[in-house]
This record gives sequence, C-alpha cells and structure tokens, in this order.
Amino acid sequence: MLISKEMLFFRSVPAEIIQVNEKVTVDLFVKRKDKLVPYLPKNSTYTEVNFSEISHLGIRKFYVRGKDRQHLERYMARYIDRILTNPEVPSKVKVNAFYVTSSQTMQQAFEDPRAEHLDNIKRSVKPMLKNIMKNESILKDLFSITQHDYYTYTHSVNVGIFATALAVRYYVDSGNKLDLNMEKLSYGYFLHDIGKSRIPLNILNKPGSLTEEEWVIMKMHPEWGYSILMETGHLTDEAAYIALQHHEQIDGSGYPFAKKGSDIHPCARICAIADTFDALTSARPYKEAIGPYDALKLMQKQSIYDFDYTLLTTFIRMLAP
Ligand SMILES: [Fe+2]
Ligand SMILES: [Fe+2]
Repeated sequence: MLISKEMLFFRSVPAEIIQVNEKVTVDLFVKRKDKLVPYLPKNSTYTEVNFSEISHLGIRKFYVRGKDRQHLERYMARYIDRILTNPEVPSKVKVNAFYVTSSQTMQQAFEDPRAEHLDNIKRSVKPMLKNIMKNESILKDLFSITQHDYYTYTHSVNVGIFATALAVRYYVDSGNKLDLNMEKLSYGYFLHDIGKSRIPLNILNKPGSLTEEEWVIMKMHPEWGYSILMETGHLTDEAAYIALQHHEQIDGSGYPFAKKGSDIHPCARICAIADTFDALTSARPYKEAIGPYDALKLMQKQSIYDFDYTLLTTFIRMLAP
C-alpha cells in the first residue's frame, strides 16, 4: 500500500514540539485516513488558528520527511527551553527533545569548543535540572533512551544526566551541605570531558588499547578541559573541580594529581561514578556493553579503591527499579 511505503520516509513529531507564532523550518504533514497530507509548508508561521485546529481535530503528531531530520533537530534546539518549561508537554517528549538536542549541541561543542557552542549546552541544562528535581520518573525515561553506543558526545550527555541526578539525590534530597551552585554543577558534568576535544581522533577513537605514549596524551584531557573552560569564560569552581578531578580515585591511583579520599571534591567523586557507569554500560568497537545491574555490581567490588562508598550506595538506590 502507498501509505506504508510513504511512511518509511517520514518520521513523526509530537505536536507539542511545534511552537505557536513561530516559523516552522520543515514541511509539516498530518495523517488523514491513513494517508499523509501536507499541512504547513516550511517557512510559514504556525499560528494560533493552526494550533486550535490541530487540538480540535485531536491530532497529536505531525510528520516530517526523514531527510529533514537535522533541520528539525536544530528547530528543537532553538526552542528547547520553551519545550522543557511548558507544562503541557508530556515528560517523555521533554526527555526525548532534551536528549536529541543536547547530543547535537554537545557534538558541535566537541568539534569546535568555542564560547557560543558551550553556551548552547548551558541553555538546556537549567530547565532540564528543574525537571530532574521535580520528577522522579524522568530519570527512568532518560535511562531508557540514552544511547549505549559510545561516542564522546553521547557519553558526555549521559554522564551529565546521571551525575546531575546523583548530585540532586546527594545534596538536595539527602540534605548534605552544598557549598556550590547546583546549576553550575550540572553544567560542569555535561562538560567534564570537553578537554578530549584536543585529543587527536586516532587516539580518541582507537579501537583497542592505547600505547603508553597515547595514554600520556589521553591523561591530559582533565587539564585541557580546565584550560578550555577558562579560555571560553566558562570556568566556575564547580566546573574546575569536575574537569580536573573526575579521574582521581579514592586510593590515590587516579590522575592527574593522584589525589586521595577526601582531597577529591565530592562533586568530582559523583562524576567519577557516573563516568564509570556509562563507560561500562556502553558498547565500544572492542568491548560489548554490560547491563546496568552487572555494572553496578562490578563498581561495588571496586568501591574501596575507586569510589566513594556512600555516593555509590546512593547511586545504586537511585537506579534500582
Ligand atoms: Fe574524562
Ligand atoms: Fe568521561
């Protein structure tokens, strides 16, 4: 049938994503009697009248051409703060929009870490943090869509999400003293590995273990991250602790400064947990991903050497079904 063939080249978009009184940047289609029909051409304004008509007809989804995916993602990135703060938008739609747009802005930041690209990440972190703080189930939604193929930018988004959620649990819900700003903290987690943007791609994406010389370069990324944040005017105390200390380990075997135990700031210890969890649960060309349960068990075994026990327990409780 025509419709099924046709649908292969389209993807659906929740109607709530489309902003009233703003121009659409892709052609929008709607489904009528199992057929896709044009609704609004690109560069036209989606008016209040359109909005009422769509609501009246009970249409929940638009369709856009598959080849317009990037335009649509850019459109979502432009309005991400509105999407995340709109109470009419269902949580799942918000989570998806956040993941898609932050992966895209993160990729851009890694390709070219200039100030305006880092600013794009900041814009969506604030409203997302509010959602994470208000809504317990959002974390489960987020985990179900996080991509488990490892790329530096998806890893950064995943760590940003897990570390933020753990920091909220640890500081806000458990009442531990926080001498830092939660929003800046969250932003720091998303950018914890930004120093990797200076690592040559043949080392960063090497499908196997690194040589000693390559490790020396890889281990520069905490300090390079610190420099990038400083040069772009994005360095805060929070981001500095996170960038510099997220590879330090409790027993002093980490890098770059071999700091031990309480010399490592708790906000960096939070990042270390999220970082390892994501690395274990993501597939790489040379290793398969392991499931969340096995990853947590493995981390628990290593906790006396690598992680803060209280924080790891909080993390395990947070992810438990
Ligand atoms: Fe790192
Ligand atoms: Fe990392």
